Amino acid sequence: MNICITGASGLLGRACVRAFADTHLLTCAWSRAKAGDLKLDLTNHKAVHKAMEKHRPELIIHTAAERRPDLCEKDIEQTHAINVAATQSLVEVAENIGAVLVYISTDYVFDGTQPPYATGAQCCPINEYGKSKRAGEEVVLATSTRTVILRVPILYGPVETLGESGISLLLHELKRQVPMKINHWAIRYPTYVDDIAQTLRGWADQLLTDSECRGIYHMSGGEALTRYEMACTMAEALGLDHSHLSPDPAAPIGAPRPHNCQLDLSRLQQETTLFQTPFREGIARALSIDWMDQNQKTTG
Ligand SMILES: NC(=O)c1ccc[n+]([C@@H]2O[C@H](COP(=O)([O-])OP(=O)(O)OC[C@H]3O[C@@H](n4cnc5c(N)ncnc54)[C@H](OP(=O)(O)O)[C@@H]3O)[C@@H](O)[C@H]2O)c1
Repeated sequence: MNICITGASGLLGRACVRAFADTHLLTCAWSRAKAGDLKLDLTNHKAVHKAMEKHRPELIIHTAAERRPDLCEKDIEQTHAINVAATQSLVEVAENIGAVLVYISTDYVFDGTQPPYATGAQCCPINEYGKSKRAGEEVVLATSTRTVILRVPILYGPVETLGESGISLLLHELKRQVPMKINHWAIRYPTYVDDIAQTLRGWADQLLTDSECRGIYHMSGGEALTRYEMACTMAEALGLDHSHLSPDPAAPIGAPRPHNCQLDLSRLQQETTLFQTPFREGIARALSIDWMDQNQKTTG
């Protein structure tokens, strides 16, 4: 199986690289490209066409994106370049070479007022990040029929820096032992990146051969948790004290965030095996080995 993973240096991309290690892999990264990766700026339309026409993957898993909502709010042009225009280049070339493209999208295409959301529910993003990812979805759906959109909510997994995920950053707050309020308003479904990658790996043959496996799917972890609840669960799983943390019932500041974007997973569950590691187990696996005994680096 000839696979291309974009965003191979990112949180989800690295998990996909681990899960697809047994295949013939083309890993694309940009500022964090390592030996063996193709260093490819996906906003360079010509370079994207040239690379894909040369390597001719059968399946492209497109994880690369700008996914930090506050940054998206500030730099709409750059956000559009990577989340929409680069997606357009990839889906066009996928169509030319006959590849199936999986576009990783987000629960932030919804406004969070009417959960749970079916795959066909009307999108109504309330921040620039959600709007750009929805625009990426529209490009995917309009350009090729050999495409799959997989919407996922907040992700966690083995990180290179604690700041790489809003969830791993909570470990920093736990270890600082300074009294702090943690958001207890937004309801999230934290999702372990290796579960998404394993689900995709198990589904890959079917994605290549079954023309019914097209269009929009939803995937998420199985537990509804606020950030405060995630911090407490993380503390218990890692044997840390959380008595210095208190719940903050207010909506977070910064880019507007939806309240509860619970995704209806039934379509994916009917078609393949959905991996759902319990949060307590996943977060312990993701963080305990690398981070418990180290001083924290919080930014990349
Ligand atoms: N993280 C979440 O909580 C979350 C929630 C819902 C949905 N999602 C979606 O899930 C997907 C994966 O997210 P993630 O958390 O794994 O993202 P991430 O860790 O921030 O990684 C982003 C990836 O995109 C690549 N990239 C950015 N600009 C690029 C460019 N111009 N050319 C080539 N590559 C570029 C980065 O490459 P370099 O680092 O090498 O530059 C990196 O590999 C995204 O589509 C995101 O929208 C994420």
